[in-house]
Amino acid sequence: MVSSLHRGADVISALQFTRSDIERLIRLAEDIRRIYESGGRLDIARNKVMFTAFFEPSTRTRLSFQFAMIKLGGAVVDLGPEEVSSMAKGESPEDTLRTVDSYDPDIIVVRHREPGFALKAAEICRAPVINAGDGYNEHPTQALLDVYTMWRLFNRVDGLKVGLMGDLKYSRTISSLSYALSNFYDITIYFISPRELKPREEVLRVLDQRRVHYEFYEKPEEIMEKLDVLYVTRLQKERMSPSEYERLKGSYTVTYSYLAGFKKIPFILHPLPRVWELTPDVDALPQAHYFEQAKNGLYIRMALIKTILGL
Ligand code: CP
Repeated sequence: MVSSLHRGADVISALQFTRSDIERLIRLAEDIRRIYESGGRLDIARNKVMFTAFFEPSTRTRLSFQFAMIKLGGAVVDLGPEEVSSMAKGESPEDTLRTVDSYDPDIIVVRHREPGFALKAAEICRAPVINAGDGYNEHPTQALLDVYTMWRLFNRVDGLKVGLMGDLKYSRTISSLSYALSNFYDITIYFISPRELKPREEVLRVLDQRRVHYEFYEKPEEIMEKLDVLYVTRLQKERMSPSEYERLKGSYTVTYSYLAGFKKIPFILHPLPRVWELTPDVDALPQAHYFEQAKNGLYIRMALIKTILGL
Protein backbone atom coordinates (compact mmCIF):
# COMPACT_ATOMS: atom_id res chain seq x y z
CA MET A 1 0.00 0.00 0.00
CA VAL A 2 1.32 3.46 -0.94
CA SER A 3 1.64 6.10 1.78
CA SER A 4 -1.23 8.56 1.88
CA LEU A 5 0.40 10.88 4.40
CA HIS A 6 2.17 13.61 2.50
CA ARG A 7 1.98 17.35 1.95
CA GLY A 8 -1.59 18.41 1.20
CA ALA A 9 -3.12 15.01 2.03
CA ASP A 10 -6.57 14.65 3.54
CA VAL A 11 -6.74 12.38 6.60
CA ILE A 12 -10.16 10.77 6.49
CA SER A 13 -9.77 7.14 7.62
CA ALA A 14 -7.29 5.02 9.55
CA LEU A 15 -7.55 2.61 6.64
CA GLN A 16 -5.30 4.95 4.69
CA PHE A 17 -2.38 4.55 7.16
CA THR A 18 0.40 2.15 6.30
CA ARG A 19 2.68 0.68 8.91
CA SER A 20 5.47 2.91 7.66
CA ASP A 21 3.18 5.99 7.89
CA ILE A 22 2.49 5.21 11.54
CA GLU A 23 6.13 4.46 12.33
CA ARG A 24 7.28 7.63 10.57
CA LEU A 25 4.80 9.74 12.56
CA ILE A 26 5.85 8.08 15.82
CA ARG A 27 9.53 8.84 15.11
CA LEU A 28 8.63 12.42 14.26
CA ALA A 29 6.43 12.78 17.35
CA GLU A 30 9.31 11.52 19.50
CA ASP A 31 11.73 14.03 17.88
CA ILE A 32 9.26 16.88 18.46
CA ARG A 33 8.63 15.75 22.02
CA ARG A 34 12.38 15.71 22.82
CA ILE A 35 12.71 19.28 21.51
CA TYR A 36 9.74 20.62 23.50
CA GLU A 37 10.46 18.68 26.69
CA SER A 38 14.01 20.06 26.72
CA GLY A 39 12.66 23.60 26.46
CA GLY A 40 13.13 24.09 22.71
CA ARG A 41 10.62 25.26 20.11
CA LEU A 42 9.94 24.61 16.46
CA ASP A 43 8.73 27.77 14.81
CA ILE A 44 8.06 26.15 11.47
CA ALA A 45 4.37 26.91 10.82
CA ARG A 46 4.63 30.69 10.85
CA ASN A 47 2.08 32.27 8.44
CA LYS A 48 0.12 29.01 8.31
CA VAL A 49 -3.47 28.95 9.52
CA MET A 50 -5.53 26.04 10.82
CA PHE A 51 -9.32 26.24 10.80
CA THR A 52 -11.05 24.03 13.38
CA ALA A 53 -14.75 23.32 12.87
CA PHE A 54 -16.29 21.12 15.56
CA PHE A 55 -19.98 20.58 14.92
CA GLU A 56 -19.93 18.07 17.83
CA PRO A 57 -18.43 18.69 21.31
CA SER A 58 -14.74 18.01 21.94
CA THR A 59 -12.08 18.84 24.49
CA ARG A 60 -9.00 16.76 23.63
CA THR A 61 -9.13 16.61 19.86
CA ARG A 62 -10.06 20.26 19.33
CA LEU A 63 -7.66 21.68 21.89
CA SER A 64 -4.72 19.38 21.16
CA PHE A 65 -4.93 20.28 17.45
CA GLN A 66 -5.08 23.96 18.40
CA PHE A 67 -2.18 23.68 20.86
CA ALA A 68 -0.20 21.66 18.32
CA MET A 69 -0.61 24.27 15.59
CA ILE A 70 0.20 27.21 17.89
CA LYS A 71 3.21 25.43 19.38
CA LEU A 72 4.52 24.94 15.83
CA GLY A 73 4.29 28.71 15.34
CA GLY A 74 1.05 28.72 13.34
CA ALA A 75 -2.30 30.37 13.96
CA VAL A 76 -5.73 28.88 14.62
CA VAL A 77 -9.19 30.13 13.71
CA ASP A 78 -12.01 28.25 15.42
CA LEU A 79 -15.59 28.18 14.21
CA GLY A 80 -16.86 28.45 17.78
CA PRO A 81 -20.20 27.19 19.03
CA GLU A 82 -23.17 27.06 16.69
CA GLU A 83 -24.95 30.00 18.32
CA VAL A 84 -22.25 32.50 17.29
CA SER A 85 -22.06 31.44 13.63
CA SER A 86 -24.65 31.71 10.86
CA MET A 87 -25.48 28.06 11.51
CA ALA A 88 -27.82 29.61 14.11
CA LYS A 89 -29.63 31.20 11.14
CA GLY A 90 -29.88 27.85 9.39
CA GLU A 91 -26.70 27.81 7.27
CA SER A 92 -25.50 24.30 6.49
CA PRO A 93 -22.11 22.93 7.66
CA GLU A 94 -21.24 22.42 3.96
CA ASP A 95 -21.80 26.12 3.14
CA THR A 96 -19.92 27.11 6.29
CA LEU A 97 -16.89 25.07 5.20
CA ARG A 98 -17.13 26.24 1.57
CA THR A 99 -17.05 29.85 2.76
CA VAL A 100 -14.17 29.49 5.22
CA ASP A 101 -12.17 27.42 2.72
CA SER A 102 -12.33 30.42 0.36
CA TYR A 103 -10.38 32.42 3.02
CA ASP A 104 -7.49 30.08 2.24
CA PRO A 105 -6.71 28.14 5.44
CA ASP A 106 -3.74 25.77 5.19
CA ILE A 107 -5.44 22.94 7.02
CA ILE A 108 -9.00 22.21 8.19
CA VAL A 109 -9.86 19.97 11.14
CA VAL A 110 -13.50 18.92 11.21
CA ARG A 111 -15.78 16.91 13.49
CA HIS A 112 -19.41 16.19 12.67
CA ARG A 113 -22.02 13.71 13.87
CA GLU A 114 -22.72 12.44 10.33
CA PRO A 115 -20.71 9.35 9.27
CA GLY A 116 -18.89 10.23 6.02
CA PHE A 117 -18.98 13.97 6.69
CA ALA A 118 -15.17 14.35 6.68
CA LEU A 119 -14.97 12.84 3.21
CA LYS A 120 -17.71 15.20 2.05
CA ALA A 121 -15.76 18.12 3.57
CA ALA A 122 -12.61 17.02 1.73
CA GLU A 123 -14.55 17.03 -1.53
CA ILE A 124 -15.83 20.55 -0.84
CA CYS A 125 -12.59 22.12 0.44
CA ARG A 126 -9.36 22.98 -1.32
CA ALA A 127 -7.41 22.86 1.98
CA PRO A 128 -6.41 19.44 3.36
CA VAL A 129 -9.08 18.12 5.72
CA ILE A 130 -8.39 16.09 8.85
CA ASN A 131 -11.23 13.97 10.19
CA ALA A 132 -11.56 14.68 13.92
CA GLY A 133 -14.48 12.24 14.19
CA ASP A 134 -17.44 11.60 11.88
CA GLY A 135 -20.29 10.16 13.91
CA TYR A 136 -19.82 6.50 14.83
CA ASN A 137 -17.64 5.99 11.78
CA GLU A 138 -13.99 6.92 12.40
CA HIS A 139 -11.52 8.97 14.42
CA PRO A 140 -8.22 8.35 12.64
CA THR A 141 -6.01 10.71 14.63
CA GLN A 142 -7.22 9.12 17.88
CA ALA A 143 -5.98 5.81 16.45
CA LEU A 144 -2.59 7.39 15.81
CA LEU A 145 -2.25 8.55 19.40
CA ASP A 146 -3.54 5.21 20.71
CA VAL A 147 -0.94 3.25 18.74
CA TYR A 148 1.72 5.81 19.69
CA THR A 149 0.81 5.26 23.36
CA MET A 150 1.13 1.48 23.00
CA TRP A 151 4.46 1.91 21.25
CA ARG A 152 5.71 4.13 24.10
CA LEU A 153 4.59 1.58 26.69
CA PHE A 154 6.06 -1.52 25.00
CA ASN A 155 8.61 -0.12 22.55
CA ARG A 156 6.75 -2.15 19.91
CA VAL A 157 3.25 -2.78 18.64
CA ASP A 158 3.77 -6.20 17.03
CA GLY A 159 2.53 -9.11 19.11
CA LEU A 160 0.32 -7.07 21.45
CA LYS A 161 -2.85 -8.54 22.93
CA VAL A 162 -5.33 -5.71 23.09
CA GLY A 163 -8.72 -5.83 24.82
CA LEU A 164 -11.21 -3.32 23.38
CA MET A 165 -14.04 -2.91 25.84
CA GLY A 166 -17.37 -1.14 26.05
CA ASP A 167 -19.42 0.37 23.27
CA LEU A 168 -17.72 -1.27 20.30
CA LYS A 169 -20.63 -0.58 17.96
CA TYR A 170 -20.88 3.21 18.15
CA SER A 171 -17.35 4.18 19.31
CA ARG A 172 -15.48 5.56 16.32
CA THR A 173 -12.20 5.06 18.16
CA ILE A 174 -12.77 1.29 18.03
CA SER A 175 -13.03 1.10 14.24
CA SER A 176 -10.07 3.41 13.65
CA LEU A 177 -7.87 1.71 16.26
CA SER A 178 -8.72 -1.74 14.88
CA TYR A 179 -7.73 -0.57 11.38
CA ALA A 180 -4.48 0.99 12.63
CA LEU A 181 -3.52 -2.12 14.64
CA SER A 182 -4.17 -4.33 11.62
CA ASN A 183 -0.93 -3.00 10.09
CA PHE A 184 1.15 -4.79 12.74
CA TYR A 185 2.21 -8.46 13.07
CA ASP A 186 0.68 -10.99 15.39
CA ILE A 187 -1.91 -8.68 16.94
CA THR A 188 -4.79 -10.25 18.88
CA ILE A 189 -7.87 -8.14 19.52
CA TYR A 190 -10.26 -9.22 22.27
CA PHE A 191 -13.60 -7.48 21.78
CA ILE A 192 -15.33 -7.22 25.18
CA SER A 193 -18.87 -5.85 25.19
CA PRO A 194 -22.54 -6.56 25.86
CA ARG A 195 -23.95 -8.56 22.94
CA GLU A 196 -25.83 -5.52 21.55
CA LEU A 197 -22.62 -3.50 21.32
CA LYS A 198 -20.39 -5.81 19.29
CA PRO A 199 -18.27 -4.15 16.58
CA ARG A 200 -19.90 -3.32 13.27
CA GLU A 201 -19.68 -5.83 10.41
CA GLU A 202 -17.62 -3.48 8.22
CA VAL A 203 -14.90 -3.38 10.90
CA LEU A 204 -14.79 -7.17 11.22
CA ARG A 205 -14.69 -7.53 7.43
CA VAL A 206 -11.51 -5.44 7.28
CA LEU A 207 -9.92 -7.47 10.08
CA ASP A 208 -10.84 -10.69 8.23
CA GLN A 209 -9.37 -9.38 4.97
CA ARG A 210 -6.18 -8.42 6.82
CA ARG A 211 -6.09 -11.74 8.71
CA VAL A 212 -6.14 -10.18 12.17
CA HIS A 213 -7.01 -12.62 14.93
CA TYR A 214 -9.92 -11.48 17.13
CA GLU A 215 -12.18 -13.02 19.75
CA PHE A 216 -15.41 -11.92 21.48
CA TYR A 217 -16.13 -11.80 25.21
CA GLU A 218 -18.88 -10.30 27.32
CA LYS A 219 -16.80 -9.90 30.49
CA PRO A 220 -13.10 -8.96 30.74
CA GLU A 221 -12.39 -11.39 33.60
CA GLU A 222 -12.34 -14.24 31.08
CA ILE A 223 -9.14 -12.93 29.47
CA MET A 224 -7.86 -10.09 31.70
CA GLU A 225 -4.58 -11.76 32.63
CA LYS A 226 -3.72 -12.43 28.97
CA LEU A 227 -4.03 -8.77 27.99
CA ASP A 228 -1.22 -6.29 27.44
CA VAL A 229 -3.70 -3.41 27.13
CA LEU A 230 -7.31 -2.93 28.20
CA TYR A 231 -8.79 -0.06 26.17
CA VAL A 232 -12.07 1.04 27.75
CA THR A 233 -14.70 3.15 25.96
CA ARG A 234 -17.77 4.95 27.21
CA LEU A 235 -21.30 4.20 26.08
CA GLN A 236 -21.96 6.62 23.20
CA LYS A 237 -25.15 8.04 24.67
CA GLU A 238 -25.48 10.58 21.86
CA ARG A 239 -25.71 7.82 19.22
CA MET A 240 -28.40 5.62 20.78
CA SER A 241 -32.01 5.91 21.77
CA PRO A 242 -32.76 6.89 25.40
CA SER A 243 -34.23 3.43 26.04
CA GLU A 244 -31.13 1.69 24.65
CA TYR A 245 -28.93 3.90 26.84
CA GLU A 246 -31.00 3.23 29.96
CA ARG A 247 -30.90 -0.52 29.29
CA LEU A 248 -27.11 -0.60 28.81
CA LYS A 249 -26.07 2.05 31.33
CA GLY A 250 -23.82 0.56 34.00
CA SER A 251 -23.55 -2.76 32.13
CA TYR A 252 -19.75 -2.64 32.41
CA THR A 253 -17.57 -0.70 34.84
CA VAL A 254 -13.86 -0.95 35.56
CA THR A 255 -12.98 -0.02 39.14
CA TYR A 256 -9.84 -0.18 41.28
CA SER A 257 -11.19 -3.01 43.41
CA TYR A 258 -12.24 -5.01 40.34
CA LEU A 259 -8.75 -4.70 38.80
CA ALA A 260 -7.00 -5.38 42.12
CA GLY A 261 -8.47 -8.90 42.09
CA PHE A 262 -6.27 -9.98 39.15
CA LYS A 263 -2.71 -11.33 39.39
CA LYS A 264 -1.74 -9.33 36.29
CA ILE A 265 -3.30 -5.97 35.44
CA PRO A 266 -2.85 -4.76 31.84
CA PHE A 267 -2.14 -1.16 30.93
CA ILE A 268 -5.45 0.70 31.03
CA LEU A 269 -6.18 3.11 28.18
CA HIS A 270 -9.30 5.13 27.41
CA PRO A 271 -9.82 7.73 24.65
CA LEU A 272 -11.69 9.91 27.20
CA PRO A 273 -13.99 11.51 28.16
CA ARG A 274 -14.92 8.86 30.72
CA VAL A 275 -18.14 8.78 32.64
CA TRP A 276 -19.16 5.81 34.84
CA GLU A 277 -17.34 3.00 32.96
CA LEU A 278 -13.89 3.78 34.42
CA THR A 279 -13.93 5.06 37.98
CA PRO A 280 -11.46 7.75 39.14
CA ASP A 281 -9.96 5.41 41.77
CA VAL A 282 -8.30 3.50 38.89
CA ASP A 283 -6.10 6.58 38.31
CA ALA A 284 -3.97 5.52 41.31
CA LEU A 285 -2.81 2.33 39.57
CA PRO A 286 0.58 2.46 37.81
CA GLN A 287 -1.14 0.75 34.85
CA ALA A 288 -3.49 3.73 34.30
CA HIS A 289 -2.13 5.61 31.28
CA TYR A 290 -5.13 7.43 29.80
CA PHE A 291 -4.05 10.97 30.69
CA GLU A 292 -0.60 10.29 29.27
CA GLN A 293 -2.44 8.89 26.22
CA ALA A 294 -4.26 12.23 25.83
CA LYS A 295 -0.93 14.07 26.12
CA ASN A 296 0.56 11.86 23.40
CA GLY A 297 -2.17 13.28 21.15
CA LEU A 298 -0.44 16.65 21.22
CA TYR A 299 2.87 15.30 19.87
CA ILE A 300 1.43 12.94 17.27
CA ARG A 301 -0.83 15.75 16.00
CA MET A 302 2.19 18.08 15.79
CA ALA A 303 3.90 15.39 13.72
CA LEU A 304 0.82 15.03 11.54
CA ILE A 305 0.47 18.79 10.99
CA LYS A 306 4.17 19.05 10.07
CA THR A 307 3.72 16.24 7.55
CA ILE A 308 0.49 17.55 5.98
CA LEU A 309 1.88 21.08 5.71
CA GLY A 310 5.13 19.72 4.21
CA LEU A 311 7.26 21.58 6.77
N1 CP B 1 -10.89 11.31 22.59
C1 CP B 1 -11.61 12.34 22.12
O1 CP B 1 -11.95 12.41 20.92
O2 CP B 1 -11.92 13.28 23.04
P1 CP B 1 -12.75 14.60 22.76
O3 CP B 1 -14.15 14.19 22.37
O4 CP B 1 -12.68 15.38 24.02
O5 CP B 1 -12.09 15.31 21.59
